[in-house]
Amino acid sequence: MPASSLHLQTQNPAQRRIFLTSALPYANGPIHLGHLVEMVQTDIWARALRMHGHSVLYIGADDTHGTPIMLRAEKEGIAPNALIRRVWAEHKRNFDDFYISFDYYGSTDSETNRQLCEHIYRTLEKSGLISARAIEQAYDPERGMFLPDRFIKGACPKCNAPDQYGDACEICGSTYAPTDLVNPYSAISGATPVHRTTTHYFFRLSDPQCQAFLQRWVAQLAQPEARNKLREWLGETGASKLIDWDISRDAPYFGFEIPGAPGKYFYVWLDAPVGYYASLKALCNARGLDFDDWVKPESAAEQYHFIGKDILYFHTLFWPALLRFSGFRPPTNVFAHGFLTIDGQKMSKSRGTLITAQSYLDAGLNPEWLRYYFAAKLNGSIEDMDLNLDDFAMRVNSDLIGKYINIASRTARFLVKCFNGRVLDHAMHHPLLERLRAALPSIAMDYENRDTARAMRALMRNADAVNAYIDAEKPWAHAKAPDGAEALHEICSVALEAFRLLTLALKPVLPRLAQTVENWLAIAPLAWSDARAPLHSGQPIQPYRHLMTRIEPGRMDVLLAQNRAALNASLLS
Ligand code: 2FM
Ligand code: ZN
Repeated sequence: MPASSLHLQTQNPAQRRIFLTSALPYANGPIHLGHLVEMVQTDIWARALRMHGHSVLYIGADDTHGTPIMLRAEKEGIAPNALIRRVWAEHKRNFDDFYISFDYYGSTDSETNRQLCEHIYRTLEKSGLISARAIEQAYDPERGMFLPDRFIKGACPKCNAPDQYGDACEICGSTYAPTDLVNPYSAISGATPVHRTTTHYFFRLSDPQCQAFLQRWVAQLAQPEARNKLREWLGETGASKLIDWDISRDAPYFGFEIPGAPGKYFYVWLDAPVGYYASLKALCNARGLDFDDWVKPESAAEQYHFIGKDILYFHTLFWPALLRFSGFRPPTNVFAHGFLTIDGQKMSKSRGTLITAQSYLDAGLNPEWLRYYFAAKLNGSIEDMDLNLDDFAMRVNSDLIGKYINIASRTARFLVKCFNGRVLDHAMHHPLLERLRAALPSIAMDYENRDTARAMRALMRNADAVNAYIDAEKPWAHAKAPDGAEALHEICSVALEAFRLLTLALKPVLPRLAQTVENWLAIAPLAWSDARAPLHSGQPIQPYRHLMTRIEPGRMDVLLAQNRAALNASLLS
């Protein structure tokens, strides 16, 4: 049994307090479909849990610090603060447009985050878990700054290809250290880097208590791949392989200065995860909640982080240890997902497949189509996921329009035209409906286990069964028959209640559509417990209005063309 199911069983089923996050996007680039996979996955989870009546706090923020952001602002001729304010507004708008239901969307440059970072640092320092020592680092003598590895380029030591980064060659694929590069140069000024000595601050992860803690904590990770990775980093034999983590950077650096260490800044990967807590704290302040009650070791609240598999290292090694040894509780779980490919290929700017959220919206595509497609593919594993553009259009048209929406559009008109919009009460106990209701708890559990693909398959099987019922019962034939009224009334009532139940179960994925349906049926916002609160004749429905359109052929080509144009424009500027 996966650890997540075990965990579920130990929960008080009544009301849980759940704090969850998506990884914080950097504030120097647009939101693209890769970000959206994660935001949609987290959002679906948050919404499904809220529908149980749990108290859910879903937190996000922009990740605003570090060298790339500092240099990007410089390139644009603006202050870093101006850049991060502008990008924050763009990101937030995109997330709103895709119905990502953050309870709070913050920014890691906040004063609250500065204070929390300082507090964490001071606590670690007092426990002897911070050490300072001199290291040698590449330095750009022209620009007068130390160079992160990413900013040192040169010829590949294996194949001699020019202009390669310091970690890997894009031409032959070999990996190496920046010091191996032939004729290295600074990507900022072009100068040849020199080596300089500087004092850095380290979180003493090599301390045996960190190792011992992580060795215990690893067991609670739900995903086997994540557990294996962390065990590999911890060393198989129990002898600590952990090395101290460098948490400082030298000026000039856009970030928070380290208290008591002028000219030294917290490395962005320290203040970014702390930004989860800073945003939670800001939310608690705004809502009058007790922050400590969510984050102290004795807290009964749960804490989850949804991330891409590339940042497991930060979230399963540094972050839990940082929390544990600074007086907070470690995460309950970390859920990693794989990368998104488009038509089987890595997303790429040059191929025009780095599709931005904005291009998707500008091409007139419905955000809920994408939410559905991602839901239909995500299964809670760490495997990569492909967005095949033809499959996308086919899947949305066949599942959402052909199976789900079709149920309402085939039957609701009869109810309005022939029965004043009122359902037949005794039809609400039809065996088809009882079967559908009985399927909902397992679908809710699929959501909880993040296997939305399984949930969508179950839902579409049920939608097929409802359509088969309508096909077999032929309401249109009864509508023409002189004595067909009662049968017509029953069939349409069953179909509409089935549609309500399917809407309930699709609501975490299609929140906007569900809201339109709730308004149309004049019912309160649907929760899981409403499975047993059927439609009734006392509440007539309004005339049927179109709920969702099909994806027209050629639409996806419009998206690609438009995205390519937008990318070219942004590359030129
Ligand atoms: O990899 C990234 O895009 C980072 N900006 C994620 C940060 S997540 C968290 F730690 F803040
Ligand atoms: Zn090479």
